[in-house]
Amino acid sequence: MKKLLQQLTEAFGPSGYEDNIRAIVRAEVEALADDIHVDALGNLIAHKKPVKASADTKRVMIAAHMDEIGLIVSHVDENGFVRFSQIGTLFRRYVPGGRVRFLNGTLGVIGYDRLDNLNDVPALDKVFIDVGATNRKDCPVRIGDVAAFERPFIEMGNRLVAKSLDDRVGVLAAIETLRALKGKSTQHDLYFVFTTQEEVGTRGAQTAAYFVDPDVGIAVDVTPTGDTPNALKMEMKLGSGPCVKFQDVGAISDPRVVQWMIDAAEKNKIPYQREVLLIGGTDARAMQTVRAGVPSGCISIPVRYVHSPSEMVDYRDVQNTVKLLTAVLRTPIQLGS
Ligand code: CO
Ligand code: ZN
Repeated sequence: MKKLLQQLTEAFGPSGYEDNIRAIVRAEVEALADDIHVDALGNLIAHKKPVKASADTKRVMIAAHMDEIGLIVSHVDENGFVRFSQIGTLFRRYVPGGRVRFLNGTLGVIGYDRLDNLNDVPALDKVFIDVGATNRKDCPVRIGDVAAFERPFIEMGNRLVAKSLDDRVGVLAAIETLRALKGKSTQHDLYFVFTTQEEVGTRGAQTAAYFVDPDVGIAVDVTPTGDTPNALKMEMKLGSGPCVKFQDVGAISDPRVVQWMIDAAEKNKIPYQREVLLIGGTDARAMQTVRAGVPSGCISIPVRYVHSPSEMVDYRDVQNTVKLLTAVLRTPIQLGS
């Protein structure tokens, strides 16, 4: 599982350019699903049918996003320095000194203009990528070329550190859940959707949810924690289990879906945390508001330093997320009438 996570996090896949990630996912899920479908936005939809449909059978969409934050070239100057715009939310504090890799393999490092105050964090229009060029002609990238941060995966005991754990660790959890369900009876009709373009506003999940037309939606994503010095006052911490989301900026989880998750966790003695997230949102938002509306929620994996090139998770939380998602999908849900 760690090897696959390393492969997923070290691969290149900013929003709109998820092809490499999709190829890795496809190779893993091909033998686990009844059928696989890729839609026009690049979402990979892996369908696992129930062994025997009953009155309890619900069509469940599980969404984990393949894309990561990145950058796109907007200008190259006469000395070959590259200016860029962001794909998704880049935090300015993590940008200078960063290393990037372009789709065409070009590597670059991020420098910045003269600062009026040496302690300033430069704005995005005051930073540039140095790709080793000396002029516009020998610059190996052009306007519109796309890059992602470059950083190897490392292990620190139970803690795993990599770029794009948001949301490759969710992608991993969805793949491993599908694997855990192999040969087990499931009462629900399951659509595991590996979505595109979440970081630019849950765009892939929106079209995939329209296609799947689910009865229930579950996003699997990361959630920032409150367990570092002087952090935001939030309950979530590394090592205490997956989080059952109640609310974030994008969605209020359906209480019936929350109860379904908590019942599955308690019945199967899986540790879990109650999550209210003060920043950010997930694909749950897109699923909840598609068509005439879908009861939706989210299982989150706690992460530190989100949207940095060194995001951190605890491996035990990843394992318990697979256990919880597997248990939830094998539990009936009461939606009432
Ligand atoms: Co994100
Ligand atoms: Zn995410």
